[in-house]
Amino acid sequence: MSRELLVELARRTIAHARAGTVPQAESIARVPADRYHDADRWQLEVDRVFRRVPLVLGFSTELAEPGSYRALEAAGVPVLLSRGADGVMRCFVNMCSHRGAIVVAEGTGSARRFTCPYHAWSYDTEGALVGVLDRSEFGSVDPVRDGLVELPCEERSGLIFAALTPTDDLRLDAFLAGYDDLLDHLDLAGCRLVGRQSVVGPNWKIAFDGYLDLYHLPVLHRDTFGPEMCNKAVYDAWGPHQRVTSPDRHVLGWADTPERDWTMRRLTGGVWTIFPHVSIARFETDGGSVYLVSQLFPGSEPGRSMTTQSFLATFDPTDEQQVAIDEQMDFLLRVVRDEDYRTGAGIQRALRTGVKTDVLFGRNEAGGQRFHAYLDRLVATADDEGYRSLLASHRFEPQP
Ligand code: FES
Ligand SMILES: [Fe+2]
Repeated sequence: MSRELLVELARRTIAHARAGTVPQAESIARVPADRYHDADRWQLEVDRVFRRVPLVLGFSTELAEPGSYRALEAAGVPVLLSRGADGVMRCFVNMCSHRGAIVVAEGTGSARRFTCPYHAWSYDTEGALVGVLDRSEFGSVDPVRDGLVELPCEERSGLIFAALTPTDDLRLDAFLAGYDDLLDHLDLAGCRLVGRQSVVGPNWKIAFDGYLDLYHLPVLHRDTFGPEMCNKAVYDAWGPHQRVTSPDRHVLGWADTPERDWTMRRLTGGVWTIFPHVSIARFETDGGSVYLVSQLFPGSEPGRSMTTQSFLATFDPTDEQQVAIDEQMDFLLRVVRDEDYRTGAGIQRALRTGVKTDVLFGRNEAGGQRFHAYLDRLVATADDEGYRSLLASHRFEPQP
């Protein structure tokens, strides 16, 4: 069923490419400039967005084996992803129940137990407190109540989703609104993690705007991707999640072949974003396709963010192919750091002057418009009932 949908969307993008048209939003949107630097607004975004909605914190393929784990910091919260001996993926706050030390140092590995570096309390892979130093002298503790704090966590389409606030229900189906049926076709679960790197950026929204923005490609990236890049975009939405396709010459290259021959690789082209902080793009190498999954997190202040780039290959690279992937990683780091985020740092400084009251998103930038409109609604929603009804409004909305 979702293949048919992908074919339908491809037909529409091809029609735009042939006609030289692009779908347009109703009008230009103005976004208040202080949204990008105001400290109160930023804190609200951390609290009501990043500490509320399901976030992509890891990849199933990376943590496939029982006992595998990944410790990371997400929006200021130290978290621990752990595949239990029972095969179930769980997410915990990476904080010792004794006096709050970070239990597992940031990174990936395999363990049967997690031992706190402060006084050596230890936890099993399912979060239970299983070891207390000098237990008889310390006094009585409870393995479950004094275990690690568990966060709601679920795997979908090869991605590990978790929320940073303890609740019973991630509400992932309502959140994704069927988007995962399409993401399944990327087969991220069948990929291998072949590289990872991080880059510091400006305000997380200045950074994220760039992932939805094809308008800038032939201009800002003229010396890297090249001036022949198409700057037109078609945005399809599943609630706040948007897939961006380009009605460009690549699409026209296979448009005349019979539809039954349209491969999944072609049908799943473009950029797949997951609100509020993930972008999935793909590039080709000699060995096959490699996905670049970018995860953005707000940093320690409004003007700072952190992006992790993970590279997931659809094949098992030979040493030689890995060298080519490493070169591509260097290239993509330079593009993002020296072109996108350097420009973003300038935007940050300029907006902070307060000289302009707002920034503009054109009729051709419907993706950015949708992102900011949805974000505003979510930030304005304080209570759980409001959040629930916002989730209930998520649906598939293709561009014409
Ligand atoms: S803080 Fe972890 S054992 Fe004391
Ligand atoms: Fe860019």
